[in-house]
Amino acid sequence: MSQIQEKSPQHCAKKKLININKHHKRLIYTFTTFILSILLLILLVWFILHPTKPEFALKEADIYQLGLSGSHLLNSSIQITLLSRNPNQKVGIYYDEIQVYASYKGQRITLDSSIPPFYQEQKDNNLLSMVLVANELPVDPSFAYEMGRDQMVGRLALDLKSNGQLRWKIGTWVSGRYMFIVNCVVVLPFGSSAPAGPLTSKQGTQCSTTV
Ligand SMILES: *[C@@H]1O[C@H](CO)[C@@H](O)[C@H](O)[C@H]1NC(C)=O
Repeated sequence: MSQIQEKSPQHCAKKKLININKHHKRLIYTFTTFILSILLLILLVWFILHPTKPEFALKEADIYQLGLSGSHLLNSSIQITLLSRNPNQKVGIYYDEIQVYASYKGQRITLDSSIPPFYQEQKDNNLLSMVLVANELPVDPSFAYEMGRDQMVGRLALDLKSNGQLRWKIGTWVSGRYMFIVNCVVVLPFGSSAPAGPLTSKQGTQCSTTV
């Protein structure tokens, strides 16, 4: 006759339950530790490499056309060259989408021009050239007056606005998409006598970037 160690079947069931609970707890601990370690690793990598936002400068802006048909339909043609620079030593940048347009006194004067997606290596520079145009784009009636005033003063301030999406590449890991915005302000000479070639040109302006 073997001795029964458990006092009752009820007690036996309770013990089993405790065992399962212990097992679950261990699993949860292991899982939590695992997740925390991964998060810590990502944070560490992020802080060690911390991507610096890309830099943009306006190398050149040439206005070829900026004229009204009637009182409020604008034709414009502006050629710009942007210098894009990745200041990071260990982080590459995928530019998935960049759209650029020009604005004057808070109103849009060209349509969007998009730059095809490209990858920028660490510490690399790229020149991005594009023509921003509009054909009979409706503008505010104050446009003609503002232009006339700027022509008298002899200069004209243009905003070049760009927004896009980028992804950081660290080693073989690629981040999710981040929105970024670039803003360039350029003040161009704007005389009444237009020489041959562009109406007006300007070289070299730093732009601000927000990621
Ligand atoms: C603007 O463009 C339209 C269509 O291309 C043309 O008919 C019109 O003459 C242009 N206006 C000016 C001021 O160049």
